[in-house]
Amino acid sequence: MTETKKITEMTDEEIKEEVRKAYTKVAQRTTSCCGPTSSCSQDTLAEKLGYEVTDLPDSVTESFAGCGNPVALASLHEGDVVLDLGSGAGLDAFMAAREVGPKGRVIGVDMTTEMTEKAKLNAEKMGVENVEFRQGDIEALPVDDESVDVIISNCVINLAPDKSKVFTESFRVLRPGGRMLISDIVLEASLPKEVRDEVASYTGCLGGAILKEEYLQLMRDAGFVNVRIVNESPFNIATSAKIEAHKPK
Ligand SMILES: C[S@@+](CC[C@H](N)C(=O)[O-])C[C@H]1O[C@@H](n2cnc3c(N)ncnc32)[C@H](O)[C@@H]1O
Repeated sequence: MTETKKITEMTDEEIKEEVRKAYTKVAQRTTSCCGPTSSCSQDTLAEKLGYEVTDLPDSVTESFAGCGNPVALASLHEGDVVLDLGSGAGLDAFMAAREVGPKGRVIGVDMTTEMTEKAKLNAEKMGVENVEFRQGDIEALPVDDESVDVIISNCVINLAPDKSKVFTESFRVLRPGGRMLISDIVLEASLPKEVRDEVASYTGCLGGAILKEEYLQLMRDAGFVNVRIVNESPFNIATSAKIEAHKPK
């Protein structure tokens, strides 16, 4: 029997390759709630999280893998430029696009080719013109300095091996006075070693999660102010949290 390598023994690039493999499968079929192992209806999951999905094509909801609804909290304004970190098949980007209207713009960034292609096809299918999907790594954003009003992200940053880079990059691309609204998995207590070692736990949005206080401190270290948990609920043995932070004016 071949032994699977442990996540805790992998380089950051090897971890990202595992994440890509997992979310390629999620892009190709409909088996993930957050991660490729669990099974539930993605429509039901999105509806449970407060999304209005009845007028959306299945190809938008079937690969949804979020753990919250960041747009619902974002109070977006017409004309805002919004960036979605780890945009997947595009559900949050499309929700944001409705709110910012034709004068606004939404950029989705995702590192998995199949997810990015699926999101682009979804935009075409829906005739949405104020959304653009770019393939890239949220640790090195393909986005100009100080060009974004609001950053959203849904269950993605836990998957990034270097969360500090994600927050410094987010700070760089936000305009002064800009905001970040995240749904993500955080921990109240450290995970057991066997969970941290397991590839499926990591790609399933649990194994890469860090302690809540550490997460908030990384955001403050990147320069964010008024960093706070808006609300939280249990997720497996961790916590699904909505987090808000601001870039000073
Ligand atoms: C759990 S899914 C969430 C997708 C989407 N936000 C949603 O709610 O459906 C995580 C997504 O983040 C992407 N991702 C993970 N790590 C990333 C990274 N370092 N840079 C860019 N995208 C990443 C994956 O390709 C995947 O599409």
